[in-house]
Amino acid sequence: MDRREYLKKTLGGAAILGAAGMMNSVQASEITSGLPGLNNSTLAALSTLPMVDNHGNYTLPDLPYDYNALEPHLDEQTMKLHHGIHHLGYVNGLNNALSKLQEARTNGDYSLVKHWSREVSFHGGGHYLHTLFWAVMSPNGGGLPQNAALKTQIDKDFGSFDAFKAHFLAASNAVEGSGWGILAWEPVGQRLIIHQVEKQQDMSTWSNIPLLMVDVWEHAYYLKYQNRRGAYTEAFMNVVNWEEVSRRFELAKGA
Ligand SMILES: [Fe+2]
Repeated sequence: MDRREYLKKTLGGAAILGAAGMMNSVQASEITSGLPGLNNSTLAALSTLPMVDNHGNYTLPDLPYDYNALEPHLDEQTMKLHHGIHHLGYVNGLNNALSKLQEARTNGDYSLVKHWSREVSFHGGGHYLHTLFWAVMSPNGGGLPQNAALKTQIDKDFGSFDAFKAHFLAASNAVEGSGWGILAWEPVGQRLIIHQVEKQQDMSTWSNIPLLMVDVWEHAYYLKYQNRRGAYTEAFMNVVNWEEVSRRFELAKGA
């Protein structure tokens, strides 16, 4: 796969991000017409895992490791259900919503445009964030980031890694209902920011670039941890793929 093809595959996610409120600077027309709007911020927001097939349909990427690879921190059964049922549901929901909007344009009937637009945001956000989520975990993860630039930025914006971790886990644990804890790069102020994202169609700030995210929907942890979300998020830190987070950080900051 050459670079252009790779970008088109992974950028498939970008088309949904404007609707999901995550990457409004890139228009779908740009994505399919030579990528003139592509910049480092755009790249940083993308996953290394493919999100679309050769026909432009959204697809479920394979995990970059076995279902049991993150044991004992994330259990095999949860990973199977999370990836094969929940994430697949977002992929199918996104494709379906887009086809319904195509039907609406064909028929000139926009009576359900609000519903299907919300479905694009909900399932698109789910597809995008889950794809990134798989990539920011690794059986060889955990510990401290080794990337000097990321370490310096964490110290600058949070005081220390320990303070970042405490803040990130507290924010993630306190998400009301279902959602995500997300470490993001804020390109205007040139700083790292931690978001509490309720559900997944609502991002706090459109310009921000997600770097590290923990899924705190109950489907991500309930089988093993039941109501102990804090034990799950603490365990999550043992599988963080800091190399992938650092890659995204450097691309984002270089924008
Ligand atoms: Fe999830």
